[in-house]
Amino acid sequence: MSKKKIVVLTGAGISAESGISTFRDSGGLWEKYDIMEVATYEAWQSNMDMVIEFYNQRRKQLHEVKPNAGHYALVKLEEKYDVHIITQNVDDLHEQAGSSKVLHLHGELKKVRSSADESIVYELEGWELKKGDTCEKGSQLRPHIVWFGEPVPMIPMAAEISSTADIYLIIGTSLNVYPAAGLVNYVKPGTPIFLIDPGEVHASHVPGVKLIKEKAGTGTPKLVEELLENAK
Ligand code: OAD
Repeated sequence: MSKKKIVVLTGAGISAESGISTFRDSGGLWEKYDIMEVATYEAWQSNMDMVIEFYNQRRKQLHEVKPNAGHYALVKLEEKYDVHIITQNVDDLHEQAGSSKVLHLHGELKKVRSSADESIVYELEGWELKKGDTCEKGSQLRPHIVWFGEPVPMIPMAAEISSTADIYLIIGTSLNVYPAAGLVNYVKPGTPIFLIDPGEVHASHVPGVKLIKEKAGTGTPKLVEELLENAK
């Protein structure tokens, strides 16, 4: 018999216990930085140095952290389920933990791409992108990040994956940012939906959701054990 499909939508909260700041919690990144100044194409055009430095610092930090129990639990889930992770995170902690199917909605911090041709994407060696680093066609390289106001090219694929889930998990996201927050609308009616988040999540976004008010590092391993048990 083929394995049941579990789709997992993750956000910054799953990486919080690894030491990466979330965006909207108190002390989060968007309290320290103005989104418009570091995460838009307009910012890139008007203050490239600041945008490069912002993502260099994020990338440098990523080289210093490790996956946590939440990421590892999702790897274990693959023993009995066909697990598809859709992440809003630009870190690679799901891949580092060993998850095999990870779709990045908002880009990947360790990659850079041509500012003239978005299909030219490179793995960056080390953490530092510099002004003057160019693609093979001579254009400045930019962070491989989906900035506010830019299209989210992976959404149709993420919607398709969401629509074929047998079980849907949402972990560590405030569900504030669309179109990612709307993916749950593609889940078939009657599909069990679990949401792990210790904060005041707008669970009303997600009718019928089972809310697990815990941190990802403890809540995810517990739910995974339960799901593995039920798969027997
Ligand atoms: P947010 O910062 O908006 O939300 C983080 C969520 O994580 C909140 O609901 C917290 O309660 C929860 N949280 C905090 N600690 C946690 C823990 N230990 N375990 C589980 N949950 C925890 O982050 P996102 O929803 O991921 O986009 O933000 C979505 C997008 O907005 C990001 O991808 C980023 C940002 O602007 C771009 O930069 C394009």
